Amino acid sequence: MSAPTPPAKPANALYVTQPLLPPLEDFIPYLEKIWENKILTNTGPFHHELEQALCDYLGVKHICLFTNGTLALITALQALRITGEVITTPYSFVATAHSLVWNGIRPVFVDIDPLTFNLDTDKIEAAITPQTTAIMPVHCYGLPCDVDGIERIADNYGLKIIYDAAHAFGVQHNGASVLNHGDLSVLSFHATKVFNTFEGGAIVCPDAKTKQRIDHLKNFGIVSETSVVAPGINGKMSEINAAFGLLQLKGIDQALQRRQMVDAYYRQKLSGLKGIQCHAQSAGKTNHAYFPILVKPDFPISRDQLFQYLRENNIFARRYFYPLISDFPMYRGLASSAPANLPVARQIADQVICLPQYPALTFEQVDMITDLIASVACHGTPSADRTAGT
Ligand SMILES: Cc1ncc(COP(=O)(O)O)c(C=O)c1O
Repeated sequence: MSAPTPPAKPANALYVTQPLLPPLEDFIPYLEKIWENKILTNTGPFHHELEQALCDYLGVKHICLFTNGTLALITALQALRITGEVITTPYSFVATAHSLVWNGIRPVFVDIDPLTFNLDTDKIEAAITPQTTAIMPVHCYGLPCDVDGIERIADNYGLKIIYDAAHAFGVQHNGASVLNHGDLSVLSFHATKVFNTFEGGAIVCPDAKTKQRIDHLKNFGIVSETSVVAPGINGKMSEINAAFGLLQLKGIDQALQRRQMVDAYYRQKLSGLKGIQCHAQSAGKTNHAYFPILVKPDFPISRDQLFQYLRENNIFARRYFYPLISDFPMYRGLASSAPANLPVARQIADQVICLPQYPALTFEQVDMITDLIASVACHGTPSADRTAGT
């Protein structure tokens, strides 16, 4: 039996994101080059060029490109030989915790900060046990973690830090790339991300020796024709993806600028709306990867009712991150998944909606979205009240 055809998407629908795609004709010369030199993968010329271009653009020393962010996370843990338990956040995309499980590591969930939605530094120490070997925080929505506080704890207890920086492309902290913090940082270049290579990812690392180890690990552990030094994986980025990344880089500043304008306009339109709270703003250079809002108890309808109402009006916002990772069946049995351990994460997960945010979103479209939310704030919806089921 064939899979059912998904329902047709309405032509005027707005989604939480829309991938950045340069004009197709601009990509043709890159394809012609690949066809000419017949190098499709295995660290070809575009792969080299993109690694260098990203180091320059991001202000980091070394980058290892990957097929996707998840394989980069899995390999980062392998590269540092992390074992036992790793402290991480339940408020993220499942790949964060999955990368630990793929390495036979137990995730230990720690609650998040109510303002930044990142790991709450004050709660990390209580979760450390003799089995703890590392911390894997997430710069959620691209807002930097408390990198100095986390580093202090890691130094005191001899722990490694691997940042899941999937959302943090181009983000700075104190005037320098946030990706330089921790032992390693992992980026995702998935289609939904600020900078995409269709699928893709990278590990940012501080020294050439670690880069070499990671480069071996992402190529089956192969060092030479006759030598394999580790049970590595195939995590290599292809030449097509790398070429696309080079083209994307040309338009990235303009795209980030446009995201900043959309973010500012949303904030202006939503300011003063009772029951709607916008996410904290970063002090440093940021990327406006997402536009999350919280639907607080004094909003006339619940978060899920607003989510549904937006859908009925062809606005396909997303509840990132709901459910919490710790609520999924493979994690909910862990002691650290107990609801009493994660009250802040639970509350935020129950209130959050990410509204559409991407460079091509027009101010008129932001008007449409925010006017709908404002009309509910003032009059409720025709059919819903907060006490009704969702
Ligand atoms: C926080 C976070 N970590 C990891 C990933 C996994 O990245 P990828 O989809 O490139 O494997 C994503 C997104 O996709 C993410 O949002």
